Amino acid sequence: SAIYLKDYKVPPFLIDKTELTFELDEATTVVTSKLHMRRNPDSTENTAPLVLDGGEDVKLVAVAMDDYVLPSGEYQLVDNQLIITATADNFVLTCETLIEPQNNTRLEGLYRSSSMFCTQCEAEGFRHITYYLDRPDVMSVFTTRIIADATKYPVMLSNGNEISRELQEDGKTSVVWHDPFPKPAYLFALVSGNLEVKNDTFVTQSQREVKLQIFTEAHNIDKVDYAMEALKRSMRWDEDVYGREYDLDIFMIVAVDDFNMGAMENKGLNIFNSSCLLASPETTTDDTYLRVEAIVAHEYFHNWSGNRVTCRDWFQLSLKEGFTVFRDQSFSADMHSDTVKRVEDVSFLKTAQFAEDAGPMAHPVRPASFIEISNFYTLTVYEKGAEIVRMIHTLLGAENFRKGSDLYFERHDGQAVTCDDFVAAMQDASGVDLTQFKRWYSQAGTPQIRVTDEYDAQSQTYQLTLQQETPATPGQPTKLPLHIPVRLGLIDESGNALSVSSSGHVSDEHLLELTEAEQVFEFTQVATKPVPSLLRGFSAPVKLSYDYSSADLLLLLSSDQDGFNRWNAGQQLAVNELNTLIEQAVAGETLSLTSNLVEGFKSLLQDASLDPAMVALILNLPSQAYLSELAQVIHPNAIKQARQYLKKQIAESLQADFAQAYQQHQVTGQYQAEAKDIASRSLKNLALSYWLESGDDAAKQVVVAQFESADNMTDQFAALSIAVHHGHDKADDLLDAFYQQWQNEPLVVNKWLMLSASREQEDAIAKVTALMEHEAFDLKNPNKVRSLLGGFGQNIAAFHQVDGSGYQFLADQILVLDKRNPQIASRLCTPLTRWKKMAPELSVKMKAELERIMANELSKDVYEVISKSLA
Ligand code: ARG
Ligand code: ZN
Repeated sequence: SAIYLKDYKVPPFLIDKTELTFELDEATTVVTSKLHMRRNPDSTENTAPLVLDGGEDVKLVAVAMDDYVLPSGEYQLVDNQLIITATADNFVLTCETLIEPQNNTRLEGLYRSSSMFCTQCEAEGFRHITYYLDRPDVMSVFTTRIIADATKYPVMLSNGNEISRELQEDGKTSVVWHDPFPKPAYLFALVSGNLEVKNDTFVTQSQREVKLQIFTEAHNIDKVDYAMEALKRSMRWDEDVYGREYDLDIFMIVAVDDFNMGAMENKGLNIFNSSCLLASPETTTDDTYLRVEAIVAHEYFHNWSGNRVTCRDWFQLSLKEGFTVFRDQSFSADMHSDTVKRVEDVSFLKTAQFAEDAGPMAHPVRPASFIEISNFYTLTVYEKGAEIVRMIHTLLGAENFRKGSDLYFERHDGQAVTCDDFVAAMQDASGVDLTQFKRWYSQAGTPQIRVTDEYDAQSQTYQLTLQQETPATPGQPTKLPLHIPVRLGLIDESGNALSVSSSGHVSDEHLLELTEAEQVFEFTQVATKPVPSLLRGFSAPVKLSYDYSSADLLLLLSSDQDGFNRWNAGQQLAVNELNTLIEQAVAGETLSLTSNLVEGFKSLLQDASLDPAMVALILNLPSQAYLSELAQVIHPNAIKQARQYLKKQIAESLQADFAQAYQQHQVTGQYQAEAKDIASRSLKNLALSYWLESGDDAAKQVVVAQFESADNMTDQFAALSIAVHHGHDKADDLLDAFYQQWQNEPLVVNKWLMLSASREQEDAIAKVTALMEHEAFDLKNPNKVRSLLGGFGQNIAAFHQVDGSGYQFLADQILVLDKRNPQIASRLCTPLTRWKKMAPELSVKMKAELERIMANELSKDVYEVISKSLA
């Protein structure tokens, strides 16, 4: 049963204060809550019963109203809700409930991860702890008492400040935390265990000293230094760029091994999946370093964009997530290279979010309905949501955008608000009309823009015609035109920027605002027929098409003033070549190259003025997943064949260049996760993969040597992956050696699981099945499931077996996992939801597995994804 945005009503009751007591215990944990409640004066339902949310795993022991213990006839338990009909206008409700964290396999609410107790309450996890008004527009001041055996659980944490710690007569320790900032229950957190801590301090812009603490299990405490530095950089950046200062006296982060998502922004007590927090040069790759920094920043930034100003209801999730992703992207761009960061983010968006937008789960950034909110922590809400905020930034300019964010935080501090409120603040502060722009929040699907042009040499005018269209998505057959910012420049045939006039404004870059289905833009003083560099910096999340010749693309690749568009031109060239090869493969023809891509790549490799990271990004061929997104009908094996063929052709033609690039971009000195070194390593390792692909025996030895002598995980794992994916005859030995070396480092073992599962072999399904029995695997741990089954999903030959055995294997795992952890099971369904686009012989097999899943009793999570996929 779905719930709808249009049905929103303010809560009939409010909870001014929430007092919680947890008696932590290995068998049964007792939770006592005292809720200081009153009827909401803004609600019209002034006789409505009190309805509190609970869960099937919460056992009610006693409920009292202002000291009157309610007899069983005076309350009802229906569908996990506690309903009390007769209430006063002001009262204290006391509830005693029992829970069993050790049996909580959903990892929502209070659960055990290795030796500790921890929580995950977003979105609706708090109801698995006790009965509550578990909705984000009910904000309350929390006081939390934790009672536990301090010999086993010496660390006892919750939100806010610790206000007392005492030894009780029974030998247990009682610790009280108080959080002065009202918050919804989804931001509640509790952690208790035998943990080590790293301490630091941060002095805010107004000279307040904040205590910083990162907690981990003892064996990991040597891997938190990088996260601590990243935290301090984030705190400074938010002051400098947004004027946002931290507000409590203490900020804590805890790493846990079992976690459904990446991390969680609980007030003053962030909880992280250890894979997103721990880092050391020997065990962590460059990518993961950057990810740790970005996620630390993301969760920290939520303190303002999410916690001080939160969401009215879960339909508004992008209010905090889209904005916070935009903030963390800008932060990472400032810390490293903005062009590289933009390319990575856009590449991810175009691959994964565009695919979501084109599939059965397509939804607007602000969904209109859902069955299970956990299913809506999506690329659309997060990444497309961030693009919407970025477009507002582009349309307003940096200065007005800052005025808008200041107004937003000032106007709504302490409130639970909507995406409309965010846009209103931006509009009010800038005077820019965003009425039409707001359609971006409610319309699903990726808009397509078709561009045509005309140049008149005589009058030196150039006309661009832009047509926009958004394809139908489930439940949204017709779409309205959007307000789309298109940043562009024009360049001449030697690659120079042309300074031209548009609406009386002369510049070498212009911002067009496309608002109609079709619009013509005119440029004057255009000295020569230009090549347009369109959608610079990817100024809008759209699919843009213009009929570029290969020569145009090579020109843009070598000389566009916009670094992002140089990458984009390189991608387009490669996509064009690959699409031709894919067609040849599907038709059963012999593959052969048709373009001058190789020459283009050669000049990139030889251009010493370029950032090696950009060269690596351009030389990295479009992924299988991206080519699948672009395809009308997906032929996985043809895509694989085409990519392999192209890679080999490039490798053979440029063998000497790759060997040279490999030597040239060696990094010396101590490992540092900094842009310059990361750039060199990325190009060096990409060059090595081509070099090995070229068939040169020297490269084989270099791969092994790098694997054995690397002093950092980036280089070691790169060598291993290259060996595995390019058919190195020592691949088996290296995989074994790697496991032997790292078997006691779970995060490294997870990388090994993923790589092993993605290895293309005849008997890959049998291999993956065997890995599920391996000591390194554990179905209870989401990271391990993601590694193994995620790796399997990338194993094209195995997953897309024509007999459907790959789909069957995944469906079997989904059904098993759904009984334990619905959120994780639901995420695993994604590859199967793409069945309509698959080649017919695969499509029927996928659909059959969806139907087989559907015939079972399912969680809401999996039910929603599967039923919508089959609809
Ligand atoms: N708010 C968290 C973040 O993006 C994610 C929490 C996701 N939780 C969930 N149950 N889906 O930082
Ligand atoms: Zn977030």
